[in-house]
Amino acid sequence: MTPTLLSSPLQGFTDFRFRNAFNYYFGGIDTFYAPYIRLNGKLKIKQSYQNDLAPKNNTSLQVTPQVMTNDPEEFLFVVNYVQSLGYNELNWNLGCPYPMVTKSGMGSGLICNPSKINEVLHKAHNESNIAISMKMRMGYENATEILEAFSVLDQYPLKSIAIHARIGKQLYKGPVDLDAFEKCIHHTKHKLYYNGDITSVASYKTIQKRFPTINHFLMGRGLIADPFLPSMIKNNTTEYPKNRWKIFSAFHDTIYQQYDEYLSGPTPIKMKMLGFWEFFSKSTSNPKKTYKAIKKAGNPIKYKQTVAQIIHSEMKL
Ligand SMILES: Cc1cc2nc3c(=O)[nH]c(=O)nc-3n(C[C@H](O)[C@H](O)[C@H](O)COP(=O)(O)O)c2cc1C
Repeated sequence: MTPTLLSSPLQGFTDFRFRNAFNYYFGGIDTFYAPYIRLNGKLKIKQSYQNDLAPKNNTSLQVTPQVMTNDPEEFLFVVNYVQSLGYNELNWNLGCPYPMVTKSGMGSGLICNPSKINEVLHKAHNESNIAISMKMRMGYENATEILEAFSVLDQYPLKSIAIHARIGKQLYKGPVDLDAFEKCIHHTKHKLYYNGDITSVASYKTIQKRFPTINHFLMGRGLIADPFLPSMIKNNTTEYPKNRWKIFSAFHDTIYQQYDEYLSGPTPIKMKMLGFWEFFSKSTSNPKKTYKAIKKAGNPIKYKQTVAQIIHSEMKL
């Protein structure tokens, strides 16, 4: 069966500019989760979030907005906002691992607090008709926290629960815990989506074989590192298109141009693209050398020359 592939959001990377260019040049993704909306104490949606979700910026994409909060009022405010834009699903982030977030009882720091989760879901389900989906880790301190949370989650008609098979304390390091993910499958009535370390067709196949009942997979860092991956998984092939680097080059130039227009000055665009190259470099033949070369490129002209050289030498291989 063809899997459903979802783009797992990366704040700072997978905004509407990236999503549109990705979809145009590579495809293979069924739904893009947008990076989270976070309100800082005020019931006000920042302009950058508004731009990211504006229907005119997402015309050819299936997008699901995401929120990170532990406050029922805030949650409902965001529900109403995204519904006013025409979205019919809101994804709730209980995965973010950063101490600034978890210490204030949000992201993966909320998984160990089922009564708070209940407060939010209770209000949302009583006062709105939006579909709610979750994206969570298996806990912050340990992977059994989610099992307790299921007792609350199972009381609500959630659309799905995407699980990043790590705990918050791990940040993004260490292995995914597939045994703990397997326990989740047996402890909830909800539809689970798998997330974590799908970085190749082979790693997708390993996960898919181990969990034959799972048919939805989220890809985050792997999708940026190798944007051909989702369509290769869908087509069950490990072959890249013949014009792989030409396509990548056109994609690169598209996002470069758009970020260059949006960000002002040479330093912000350089930092933005350097962030992307931390991922892009991984699918070049010499990741360290590639990243170092991009890092060294001191101005936009040198940057463009360096990118052209990298692509030229990859094409020759
Ligand atoms: C820089 C960065 C930003 C992220 N931002 C978000 C976010 O806004 N919302 C979210 O649900 N997950 C976020 N994540 C987590 C990823 O979506 C994903 O769940 C995680 O990286 C594991 O999947 P992967 O191994 O496929 O990358 C972020 C991860 C990174 C590294």
